[in-house]
Amino acid sequence: MEILIIQGSLGNPSRTAALAELSARTLAREGHRVRLFDLRVHDLPWAVPYGEEESWSRSSPSLRELIRAAAAADAFVWASPVYHNSYSGVLKCALDHLTEREFRDKPVALCGDGGRRGSEQPLEHLRTVARSLHACATSVVVASRADDFTLKDGQYVVTNQEITVRVGEMCRQLAAFAELLRGSAGAVLRSAQRAEELA
Ligand SMILES: Cc1cc2nc3c(=O)[nH]c(=O)nc-3n(C[C@H](O)[C@H](O)[C@H](O)COP(=O)(O)O)c2cc1C
Repeated sequence: MEILIIQGSLGNPSRTAALAELSARTLAREGHRVRLFDLRVHDLPWAVPYGEEESWSRSSPSLRELIRAAAAADAFVWASPVYHNSYSGVLKCALDHLTEREFRDKPVALCGDGGRRGSEQPLEHLRTVARSLHACATSVVVASRADDFTLKDGQYVVTNQEITVRVGEMCRQLAAFAELLRGSAGAVLRSAQRAEELA
């Protein structure tokens, strides 16, 4: 499977990034090809109304890369910090650049960190976004909090075994959903069409 992880925190160090990296390692260990699209590295333009998106994507290499990677992916992980009981603006901006063509009939795993208090609320908001894109969100999600991490060499790492196990369950469910949905003609057709348009 080709899996695209979109890391939606600009923090450095970032607990969300640590969750995204743990998901990447877990999925890679299971034999999947994983692409980590870290929004700290890729500066995306603001999403603009339909019709103008093509000119933006042509002028932004990062955006082109995101759209191509999303079109090629069989499955996704969306990772976000908790911001005001919801998910981050940069993740919203990234998702607003993408469409049903990249997501229809594909599964999305959801994870995020809430600092002192973990919260699933942002993940529920992301579930609604996934539905709008005709993607299928996993039922297993990961909502961590500060205590679940330790700072090592200036970067957070997950040190709560329960979170590590939960990430494993989420990744396994994501891969199982992807396997089930992979044959969907809708997904294959739309992704190929979109990749061709951007070539
Ligand atoms: C603008 C902003 C809003 C936040 N709102 C919440 C919140 O509503 N609830 C909460 O538990 N934490 C909130 N936090 C704390 C972050 O969720 C927390 O620091 C998290 O660890 C950040 O993730 P990161 O380490 O990946 O950047 C907020 C932080 C910021 C910067």
